[in-house]
Amino acid sequence: MKIHEYQGKQIFREYGMPTPRGFPAMSVDEAVEAAKKLGGKLWVVKAQIHAGGRGKGGGVKLAKSIDEVRARAKEILGMQLKTHQTGPKGQKVRRLLVEEGADIKKELYAGMVVDRGTQKVVLMASSEGGMDIEEVAAKTPEKIRKVFIDPAQGLSDASLAEINPLVLTGDNRVIALDAKLTFDDNALFRHPEEVALRDLDEEDPLEIEATKYELNYISLDGNIACMVNGAGLAMATMDTIKLYGGAPANFLDVGGGATAERVTAAFKIMLSNKKVKAILVNIFGGIMKCDTIANGIVTAAREVKLSVPLVVRMKGTNEDLGKKILKDSGLPIISADNMADAGKKVVAAVKGLKAKTAKGDWAAPLSRGEASLREGGWF
Ligand SMILES: Nc1ncnc2c1ncn2[C@@H]1O[C@H](COP(=O)(O)OP(=O)(O)O)[C@@H](O)[C@H]1O
Ligand SMILES: [Mg+2]
Repeated sequence: MKIHEYQGKQIFREYGMPTPRGFPAMSVDEAVEAAKKLGGKLWVVKAQIHAGGRGKGGGVKLAKSIDEVRARAKEILGMQLKTHQTGPKGQKVRRLLVEEGADIKKELYAGMVVDRGTQKVVLMASSEGGMDIEEVAAKTPEKIRKVFIDPAQGLSDASLAEINPLVLTGDNRVIALDAKLTFDDNALFRHPEEVALRDLDEEDPLEIEATKYELNYISLDGNIACMVNGAGLAMATMDTIKLYGGAPANFLDVGGGATAERVTAAFKIMLSNKKVKAILVNIFGGIMKCDTIANGIVTAAREVKLSVPLVVRMKGTNEDLGKKILKDSGLPIISADNMADAGKKVVAAVKGLKAKTAKGDWAAPLSRGEASLREGGWF
């Protein structure tokens, strides 16, 4: 979970770190009000979005009078701010931070991030802070000093904590001029105070909807929606779609205890992605029985008035009963016998073609998840 700079700075203050004084503002009037409360002669109006590179994108502006604060706030609030981190569409600015302008002698960098390679937290510092830190990292990495910290020593729960720039002021004070904190979603249950900072406007609406039903859903760029039980099988399913030339529209793990209600919610979420041209359901019936899933699929398909081809592959407990339920429903469901078959059929369906049936066809290389399931004697 990402939070805004003004929220990050509030946390810094709680830990006694010096930051410029400032107030968040949700409107131009609030920005002017904030500047008046701060007093002084120099203010900075800063776009608050969950992406860096705002300065270069025109989202951080100096103001030398209250009228300038008003003008800059008007420009920035509501703009579609494009930075190297937002993607080409940019991100709409809905919140501002108005803070006192600092007298900067030098911009430094300090940050901590979880480094997957070493499985440690890496603390990085550089004398070359500011808006070009990415370039420093690429061209002169020796200018960034790194210290690796073993998580067993106690640092955890944030996946990123970054201050860029950390500045040295004219009167030799060191202050945090920017604040970027990202929390590990899996550790949020320990931090209700951080959860309260969540800004849903900055997150993918489908992913938000999915969390309400405890579905693990991630939006992707392709056009084949997939619904799978188990994260490993979901990864394997996406690999299979790719192998046959398709592209998954999402990752979706409905988990072990999916009910008809959750399956319906999953269908609605998948279908509200307008890019979706076909759906692939790949279920391994273990604890979750195939007939339960089949009933869920039929209810959901009727309720959402399914408008795209649906390919279903199911294996495991009560498989025959599940297949019968799908067949008897009269819905135009394309059934598949194995993953290769399912992959081929769904890719063909997107192209408006019928795939040659590939019953028992294991000639295609197996993805790792499927291979390990087969090795384990599952099918
Ligand atoms: N309070 C401030 N006073 C003076 N200059 C500032 C202030 N806040 C930001 N800046 C300048 O704007 C630049 C970009 O701001 P920053 O908060 O780092 O946003 P981003 O990293 O998204 O570009 C900083 O590197 C600094 O030079
Ligand atoms: Mg910065």
